[in-house]
Amino acid sequence: MSSPVPAALPTAELHLHIEGTLEPELAVELARRNRVRLPHPDLASLRRAYSFSDLPSFLDLYYELSEVLQQPQDFTDLAEAYLTRAAAQGVRHAEVFVDPQAHTSRGVPLEVVLDGLAEAFRTAEERHGLSARLIACFLRDRDPAEAEALVPRLRPWHDLVIGVGLDSAEVGFPPELFRRAYALAADEGLHRVAHAGEEGPPGYVLGALDALGVERVDHGIRSIEDPALVARLREEQVPLTVCPLSNVALRAVPDLAAHPLRAMLDDGLLVTVNSDDPAYFGGYLHDNTVAVSRALGLGAAERRSLAEHSFRASFLPEADKQRHL
Ligand code: ADE
Ligand code: ZN
Repeated sequence: MSSPVPAALPTAELHLHIEGTLEPELAVELARRNRVRLPHPDLASLRRAYSFSDLPSFLDLYYELSEVLQQPQDFTDLAEAYLTRAAAQGVRHAEVFVDPQAHTSRGVPLEVVLDGLAEAFRTAEERHGLSARLIACFLRDRDPAEAEALVPRLRPWHDLVIGVGLDSAEVGFPPELFRRAYALAADEGLHRVAHAGEEGPPGYVLGALDALGVERVDHGIRSIEDPALVARLREEQVPLTVCPLSNVALRAVPDLAAHPLRAMLDDGLLVTVNSDDPAYFGGYLHDNTVAVSRALGLGAAERRSLAEHSFRASFLPEADKQRHL
């Protein structure tokens, strides 16, 4: 007999790409609405394409399907669907990634993306009982000058966009390339996070901390290969937003039983569990928590720690953190 599914605890989701919440059904509907030809003619063949060998092989499909997002309403519908699902999985606060360059580079204006998302986020509190903000990510496999130009363009949305991040293909694109973009973001009063140590080496985590001044590291699982880095992350209590189902789907780890989450918790790191691109990797936040808990034998006390870490690691004002803790 399998053990009962533990209840979802109130949690903050800190590593979630809004484009990665595009479920195949919505992709097909938006393709029809916007007359975009998808490379996969029907839902069944599209579903079969959701199988990946690494991060770049996933990103090919992720960017391809993002092309169905064209109008403000498409972004509103996408965010509304995510917020509904997230609330049902215990999420009370979400700091959501968006990839502006994935849209502006194909002619969709920044205001279409951000105003469309803002429409759903504005009502998230009353409709879903959760607060939501955005973190605009720079695509690290594009020219850093584009990232530098994006920073001042975010100004009209500073109520909504609270920070910048760094994502897309990691290996070969070290954090140091984005030193200037992050300095500009800091001058604007924006929070700073970056993907590092997902597929890239521990040196990329160090680069994110030292060259970019990040307050939080996204993934960071390869940090465990460097004991001195682990000691620093523990001492400074740098939050790491870990995404177990993503790491298995993109083969950063062979399976959940081999996931370093327990080792990271045992090492005293401020780790949180998140869903990354849930439409592609098989589950939303609580699905990740349940699956990794089963595989690693995490109990109720460890799940409480993970939920508590999520609010501590968030960019909520201190009084709001306390309300959730
Ligand atoms: N963009 C969307 N998901 C990502 C991930 N897991 N790593 C890097 N870039 C991404
Ligand atoms: Zn990610």
